[in-house]
Amino acid sequence: RLLIIDFGSQVTQLIARRLRELKVYCEIHPFQNVDDAFLREFAPKAVIFSGGPASVFSEGAPMPPLSVFELGVPVLGICYGQQVMMHCLGGMVQRGHGTAEFGRAYVAPSEERLSLLDGWFEGVREQVWMSHGDHVSRLAPGFAVYGTSPNAPFAVTADVARHFYAVQFHPEVHHTPNGLKLYENFVRIAGFDGDWTMASFREDAIEKIREQVGDAKVICGLSGGVDSSVAAVLIHEAIGDQLTCVFVDHGLLRAGEAEQVVTMFREHYNLPLIHADEVDLFLDALEGVSDPEEKRKTIGRLFIDVFQKHADSIEGAAFLAQGTLYPDVIESVSFSGGPSVTIKSHHNVGGLPEKMGLKLVEPLRELFKDEVRALGRELGLPETFIGRHPFPGPGLAIRCPGAITRAKLEILRAADAVFIDQIRRHGLYDDIWQAFVAILPVRTVGVMGDGRTYDYACALRAVTSVDGMTADYYPFDHDFLGETATRIINEVPGINRVTYDITSKPPGTIEWE
Ligand code: XMP
Repeated sequence: RLLIIDFGSQVTQLIARRLRELKVYCEIHPFQNVDDAFLREFAPKAVIFSGGPASVFSEGAPMPPLSVFELGVPVLGICYGQQVMMHCLGGMVQRGHGTAEFGRAYVAPSEERLSLLDGWFEGVREQVWMSHGDHVSRLAPGFAVYGTSPNAPFAVTADVARHFYAVQFHPEVHHTPNGLKLYENFVRIAGFDGDWTMASFREDAIEKIREQVGDAKVICGLSGGVDSSVAAVLIHEAIGDQLTCVFVDHGLLRAGEAEQVVTMFREHYNLPLIHADEVDLFLDALEGVSDPEEKRKTIGRLFIDVFQKHADSIEGAAFLAQGTLYPDVIESVSFSGGPSVTIKSHHNVGGLPEKMGLKLVEPLRELFKDEVRALGRELGLPETFIGRHPFPGPGLAIRCPGAITRAKLEILRAADAVFIDQIRRHGLYDDIWQAFVAILPVRTVGVMGDGRTYDYACALRAVTSVDGMTADYYPFDHDFLGETATRIINEVPGINRVTYDITSKPPGTIEWE
């Protein structure tokens, strides 16, 4: 296994992700935990030093134990990791007066490159992502330069004999397009076969959950979304019926959704599941509420109450399981307390653990969305379930601008089902990030047969996106839109006009509220 020593970079997890792509097992450990004894026990086959915000000049600068260089295994230093390596091995680091580099830069390889980097530099100049203030100014003995950038004469350095490699840039980020190749070369040199898989992740995760939980009880809020479902199935595999799931049905789910979730988890997975049917509670509280934030806050508050009520009924519950993913972890670290305004109060169960005094079990904390899907497949969740579009916690409430009524929700559910059916029939589901119908708070006049109609208008929404942060509308062809409008009007009583929302995000948002 490979050890990543974390010096506090924002993107350390991306290194782990790249290694998982290369099917290499790795663990990230913060530098404070890595001492001589730890290294002996861990016995890494290779070590990577992450980047980090510190300067080797600062007091108590993060450092690895020097014994790491005596293990006889390859070591790769990234950015701050490079500076650490030079600092420890007798080179020199200079403060970055006027030589800081942030963002895109081009590394020009030197002549010796081919023997070491083995085809990594395919073009003459390689785009890389730099983010450093200090830089190396003198190499440690044994090291040579293999590539330079305008502001980093030591962009790529190595002591080939000892298998120590160090780069000033970040090969793990998206903006270093060929960075994976560098990791690939490194792990090959270290002798990894690339045989680690999601199946192994599953086994390791199960082991860790058992260790963490012991014989305590765990509760899990199951929303029917991919993340909480994968987390629940994995935890159930680890600790069986010490886990209880709570599925809160707030009456704002899509057609057939509650039944599907309950059937799947109870019958196919044998998961102990509380189906909290709280439709009346939620819909009564929402009656007459038309302000979007008030809707969101009402739902969020009731959700916590209901969850807590059911959780209290489980004696000895000491842990709360959540399907937190790595992007949630970074976002909350980098954006918490920032000056950004609240666009929407997102609904989640974030306030629960403190309120309930529960410890967290978050087995997906290191994974990205596509990896969670891969794990879901590994656990045998059906493909149709794994590939589902995201669905917001407040559900249909935020797709029904204006006051919510049960009648409108019925119409909305029926129209949404037709739209999704159309998208599936045309084989477009997987090309779209999210698609749904919003029912508009206006009625318009139409003519059907020989009669006048006065019914609701609805809007179709379908967007492409990579992360939900920005989005563009999906370019359906006109025949598809025409056919869908006709089907909705014919099949859904209560709607007589269909529009297509072609707003991108920004300036729009994906949901209507
Ligand atoms: P917006 O509408 O802000 O949505 O562009 C971006 C993504 O987030 C989803 N969304 C939510 N998800 N709780 C959630 O779990 C919420 O309160 C919530 N609001 C929006 C939305 O469906 C889209 O995928």
